[in-house]
Amino acid sequence: MTNQSIDKLDFLARRVLDAKKIGFLTGAGVSKESGVPTFRDADGLWNKFRPEELANATAFRNDPHMVWQWYNWRRKLINEVKPNPGHYAIVELEKISEGFLLITQNVDDLHRVAGSESVVELHGNIQVNKCFSCGKVIEGELDFDNDNIPHCECGGLARPGVVWFGEMLPEDAIISASNWTQECDLFFSVGTSTAVFPAAGLPYEAKKNGAYLIEINPQPTDLTPFADVSIQAPSGEVLPKIVEAMNSIRGARG
Ligand code: OAD
Repeated sequence: MTNQSIDKLDFLARRVLDAKKIGFLTGAGVSKESGVPTFRDADGLWNKFRPEELANATAFRNDPHMVWQWYNWRRKLINEVKPNPGHYAIVELEKISEGFLLITQNVDDLHRVAGSESVVELHGNIQVNKCFSCGKVIEGELDFDNDNIPHCECGGLARPGVVWFGEMLPEDAIISASNWTQECDLFFSVGTSTAVFPAAGLPYEAKKNGAYLIEINPQPTDLTPFADVSIQAPSGEVLPKIVEAMNSIRGARG
């Protein structure tokens, strides 16, 4: 991190401490330092797999076993990793802040495992099974053989509880996220390429409604020119430093 970035951190820490309502959008980059691959980086999932073959209802209808093979592989990978310092710093930010809502596109559940409490999951959660026919959550075994897919009591096949391409976001999730975004005075966009809408529209909506916009991402994105501050470094490095700076300012303020 450059000296200029470090100066920005102190400034940001004050900004966060003085904010009344913080919206905090996260994407796959936040989990990268835990070992969960992102989607669009050079080593990301969508460079190895084709979303149209895996993450949509038609693919599931045609070959549910192949789709489950992919999701069971991702579940296994996610079950073997732990939250990283970025996830834990977000928990601290929530505790210190007056009003805080974490809005995540991630399905890996690592924010909750770390201890975040006010979390809106825009793209669902990979640790949940729901019925492909009636949509109800199917409780029970998450670890099953790809050829032995559990059934719902209605007879439908279990599918992963994530949002696929071409599907609507859970209504309550997008409404809460959108309402909060319009009311907040500070908004973070962290570890997301801001390539997938409607989630990607939230930082712009926040800014349009007067929020101060901070982006943290090692790479520039389409959002970067609109951000008030952009820190180009990994979230697992930057976020703990912001929390550290906040704690020393709080100590000095008494
Ligand atoms: P992407 O893979 O599109 O973007 C990940 C972003 O994280 C990139 O901009 C990276 O530069 C950044 N990044 C990489 N390492 C980082 C680090 N250590 N710290 C911070 N940032 C880092 O992932 P998303 O933006 O989350 O949707 O993708 C959005 C949606 O597209 C996903 O939720 C998924 C996917 O298709 C569905 O499956 C519905």
